[in-house]
Amino acid sequence: MKGVIFSGMRPTGKLHLGNYFGALDNWIKLQEEYRCFFGVVDWHALTTGFESTEMMKENIIEMVIDWLSAGIDPEKSTLLIQSHVPEHAELHLLLSMITPLSWLERNPVVKEQVRDLDLKENMGYGLLGYPVLMAADILIYNANAVPVGEDQSPHIELTREIGRRFNSLYHNVFVIPELKLSPTPKILGTDGRKMSKSLKNNINISDSPEIIKTKIMSMITDPEKIRLTDKGHPEICVVFDYHRIFNKKELPKIEQKCRNAQLGCVACKNHLAAILSKSLQSFREKRKYYENNRQLVWDVLNKGSQEARKVTQTTLVEVKKAMRIDYVQ
Ligand code: TRP
Repeated sequence: MKGVIFSGMRPTGKLHLGNYFGALDNWIKLQEEYRCFFGVVDWHALTTGFESTEMMKENIIEMVIDWLSAGIDPEKSTLLIQSHVPEHAELHLLLSMITPLSWLERNPVVKEQVRDLDLKENMGYGLLGYPVLMAADILIYNANAVPVGEDQSPHIELTREIGRRFNSLYHNVFVIPELKLSPTPKILGTDGRKMSKSLKNNINISDSPEIIKTKIMSMITDPEKIRLTDKGHPEICVVFDYHRIFNKKELPKIEQKCRNAQLGCVACKNHLAAILSKSLQSFREKRKYYENNRQLVWDVLNKGSQEARKVTQTTLVEVKKAMRIDYVQ
């Protein structure tokens, strides 16, 4: 075993291809070599989604059904719900004492969120502390590495700074984790923008073959290729990008036929839809099983959260000892 890994996902419901290639695919591979903890970070979801919480429970279960069906194995990895492991919150509080406000105010990820979600004066105290909570998630397991996408790297840097600050203020308690970037192939949404549920340009890994087909048919291709007999430019075509990922074998053939006006976009899309649906078929079958056995999924999460607490409680004892707040009388 190479060490400990923690990673988390906000419960957004059914996962799309961007989530799959941005994280899940990597997690599945890492469980063979590392002691992995994967968290449903529901408190992080509240930092921006505090007004609409009615879908939280459903979003948690749908997301974790995707995890399990895709190959996250609870025999190998510990699956937990952040809010079921209250030590994350206690450590977050303690870390918030030692984190300079200026570190949080300059965080580019939070600035971006404030802009994208148009939060401004409505930005909550919790959102400012988002990276501190994330640091608590990671440091409490003494994780050696954190697999995340590039967009999260400022958060991981803050986690390291907070960990180092604690260690130097008190005692060496925390392992300083490494950033482990996911090797993500670029997968865009059906409109050519970044794939995202809120932009409604997502293809979910659980989508039926019919839905996959409809979504792929709606994709924008090379605007200069209108008829079959027009020569195409695969390098600017989202459909071709998908072939790159899902149809490596036929790629040279497709590229050549597109360029030579021997392959029309409709046929090209139909072919892609068939290949993508087929590659997700066994996933869909496993998913059906969990959909019909939801209690099993809750059992995994409840058991995992209890398992996680054994580790988090031990770390918290160390933390309090180091801070000399472990008084009992
Ligand atoms: N911020 C992460 C995201 O949006 C989710 C997250 C929360 C996380 N805590 C974490 C990821 C700890 C890695 C480790 O994707």
